[in-house]
Parts: sequence; structure tokens; C-alpha cells
Amino acid sequence: MFSAIILFSLLSFVAAQLSGPVGPITPLSEKSNICNVLDFGGEIGSSDIGPAIQSAYNNCVLTNSSASTLYVPDGDYDMQTWVTLSGGTKWAFRLDGLITRTSTTTGNMIVVENANDFEFYSANSAGGIQGAGYQCRNDGPRLIRMVTSTRWSLHDLILVDSPEFHLVVQDGSGGEVYNLAIRGADIGGSDGVDVWGDNYWIHDVEVTNRDECVTVKSPASNILVERRGSAMGSLAINTSIENILYQYVYTVGGNQAYMIKGNGGSGTVTNVIFQNFLSRDTAYGLDVNEYWASMSTLAGDGVTLYNITFKNWDGNVADGVERSPIQILCADTAPCYDIYLEDVYMWSLTDEATWKCESAYGSGACLESGTEYTSYAVQTTSYTQPTGYTTPTTMTGDLTTGFGSTAPIPTPTIPTMFYPGLPQISPLMKNQ
Ligand SMILES: *[C@@H]1O[C@H](CO)[C@@H](O)[C@H](O)[C@H]1NC(C)=O
Ligand SMILES: *[C@@H]1O[C@H](CO)[C@@H](O)[C@H](O)[C@H]1NC(C)=O
Ligand SMILES: *[C@@H]1O[C@H](CO)[C@@H](O)[C@H](O)[C@H]1NC(C)=O
Repeated sequence: MFSAIILFSLLSFVAAQLSGPVGPITPLSEKSNICNVLDFGGEIGSSDIGPAIQSAYNNCVLTNSSASTLYVPDGDYDMQTWVTLSGGTKWAFRLDGLITRTSTTTGNMIVVENANDFEFYSANSAGGIQGAGYQCRNDGPRLIRMVTSTRWSLHDLILVDSPEFHLVVQDGSGGEVYNLAIRGADIGGSDGVDVWGDNYWIHDVEVTNRDECVTVKSPASNILVERRGSAMGSLAINTSIENILYQYVYTVGGNQAYMIKGNGGSGTVTNVIFQNFLSRDTAYGLDVNEYWASMSTLAGDGVTLYNITFKNWDGNVADGVERSPIQILCADTAPCYDIYLEDVYMWSLTDEATWKCESAYGSGACLESGTEYTSYAVQTTSYTQPTGYTTPTTMTGDLTTGFGSTAPIPTPTIPTMFYPGLPQISPLMKNQ
């Protein structure tokens, strides 16, 4: 199954959702001390480009007083030594080559930590990492991890078949992630982008997998995800997620149009908007599940969800009776409230469907109204095809089937359109 996410935004929403500027401060043209890995022991066709990357970073990026660019030229490289690029300010990592993972060491192939004013990109929009995860499924590294960095961007990169997750954004703030093609296998645990932290803008990301495309984890605030998105959670103890906007999200196949998942735990998710979603042939549709069976129950009454709006959705699921296109199942010990569904037209390819609500208050579908938020048992109701539902649009480039987990996944190119009818927000580097 295939799922993909795309984001598009109007400036007013950007301003409203983000709490400040994102992305690097210094333009690439000023990061003019070029630290080419070929001058630091690397060569095209290398069986391990890791040491040359680390050396170029330690002995050129960090030692030069002017702003630097670490450069991996176009070409194929293998990598078996992972790198940690820590503490750089005012620098860029230009990865025009394609790096293939050859060691199964766990951890992360490339960690960038405590970077400030940083840009990670390929100028030919063709650089990236081939994880060959089929060789060591769930027993190898993640591809890229951005840790506690500030004012940075990551764009125009291709990430393929990570043994684990593809890109993890851990804490930090002021990041922009865009123009990515991420291709994972048709299995769980193949997350595209996992993000937590403050003030992030993630847009124009295409993800192929069966799991989460762009997932917000706790603690997170002021996050805008556009043109691809798909889950939040798993919600944990002391969850704190607020001021999140997902919009222009396009999904074909895959597990869900969007899912908020948890089981026990505590804390809150609030001030969240999910708008302009198109989805086709997903297993689940709009899916809030605080009794998610794939995780063991955590201590706590459940995470309280409130002030969450779903607006302008058009989608269908594979079988709307087996799996409701809309289900909002909140914790009986922490009912959710102020959940609003506006113009949410979710239907089924089987032409029959139910919706399910439990301990959930607000308006739309089977949400109960009222201001006494007492628990109630799950209610399953049949409904008829909503007027307003139209069979969602398709896009050229839609896949009809996903990629197996035991064979190589080909390296794609980055698309120029991520949501039907909307141009990408920034052109690809190769087209500039
Ligand atoms: C710093 O980078 C500049 C520009 O590449 C170069 O001319 C200079 O020699 C470098 N300085 C050191 C200490 O490496
Ligand atoms: C949750 O927050 C409370 C209060 O700050 C703290 O005592 C507790 O250790 C936290 N629990 C976890 C699992 O983070
Ligand atoms: C509900 O969330 C929206 C979107 O974040 C926000 O604009 C609004 O102020 C919130 N409402 C309340 C009552 O906090």
C-alpha cells in the first residue's frame, strides 16, 4: 500500500501556526569555504565514505572561521562508519551523491546535533541515502537524525528503504523540512519523518510506506505540516502537543488518512487543525484511537484531546464496515471534547460504512454534544454516503502497490507536485 503526504500553505496560516522564523539565516552563497570529502580521504565509489565526511567536518568545517559547506559530489558511495556532526554554526552539508548503507550497525548513519544556521540539501535534487533496509529489517540504523538544532533546513534529499525510520527530528526549533522523496517498505516501522520540538515547518514531502509519513510526537508545539502527514503519537505519559496544523494532505493506500493513537498515558493534545485532506483506499480514515491495541497500556487516565478541528476532508477507505472511515475513540477516563468535524466527507469503496465514537464530544459524525464530558461506551452507527463526498482526485505518479520489505526499493526522483492542483512551495534546487 502506498501513502503519501503533501502540504501547502497560505502565508496567514504559516504566520498563525509557526511561532517564529524557520530555516537557516545565512545564504548558501556565503557558506563559501568548501570542504570536499574528496580532499579528506574520500573517493567516488568509496566502500566507506563515513570517515571522509567526519574528517571534512572536523578538519575543515569546524576549523575554519568562515562559513563552510561540507560537499559530497555527485556519485555513488557506500558507507559503513556512522558520523556525528556536532556543534557547527553557519554551515551547510551539500550531499549531491547517493550514499548506500552497507553496515548493519544500529544508531543513525548521519547525526547532526546542536547545529545552528544550518542547511542540509542536494543541489542536484538527487542526493540522499539508500538504506537497503531489506537486508537488515528493523535491525540497522536510522538514516538521518537532527538533534537539538536551531534555525536549519533539510531539503531536496531522497531517503530510501531505511532499516528503521528515515528522518528523525529530535527537539530543537526553527527547522524547515521540504522537497523530500522518502520511499519505505510496505510494512510498519517505516516512518518517514518523526518530529518533536518547537516551531517546525514541514512541507512538500512524499512518503511511500505503510506506516506514518510525517508524525508529530510529544513534546511538540507550533508545527505546520503541509502536503503529506499522517499520524500523531503514540501518545505517552505527560504528552504535550499543541498548536499543530496539518493541511493539504494527500494519501493513497496506506494505513490511514490520519491517526491519533495512544493507550493510557497522560497530558494533553490541543489547538490542532487538520484541513484539506484527500485520501483514497486507505485501511483506516480519520482515526482517533486511545485504545490502540498495538501498544501496551501506559500508566495514566489517558491523554486529553480538546479543541481539535477536522475540516474539508474527502476520502474513502477500503471497507467502511470492517474499519470505520471515521472513528473517534477517546479514553473513558479522559473524554475528549471540542472536537469539530466540518465538511468531512469520508466514505467507503464498499459503499457502506459505519462511524464509531466513544467518550468524545463536539460536533459532526457521532460526536455527542453537551458540556458534561462523561464517559460513554463505543457507539457504532451506519450512515449513508455523505452529500459532498466526491471520489477523491488522483495524481500522476500515484503508485498502485507498495514496495515489498524483502527486496531492494529503487531510488526515486523528487516530484514537483505534492497535492493535486497545488504547486510546490519552493522549486527543486535543480530547477532554480
Ligand atoms: C578557510 O577557508 C578559506 C576559504 O576556503 C581558505 O582560504 C582558508 O585557507 C581556510 N582557513 C583555514 C585555517 O583552513
Ligand atoms: C510526568 O510529569 C510528572 C510531573 O512533572 C513527573 O513527576 C513524572 O516523572 C513525569 N513522568 C514521566 C514518565 O515523564
Ligand atoms: C482552538 O485552536 C485553534 C487552532 O489552534 C486556535 O486558533 C483557537 O484559539 C483555539 N481555541 C481556544 C478556545 O483555545
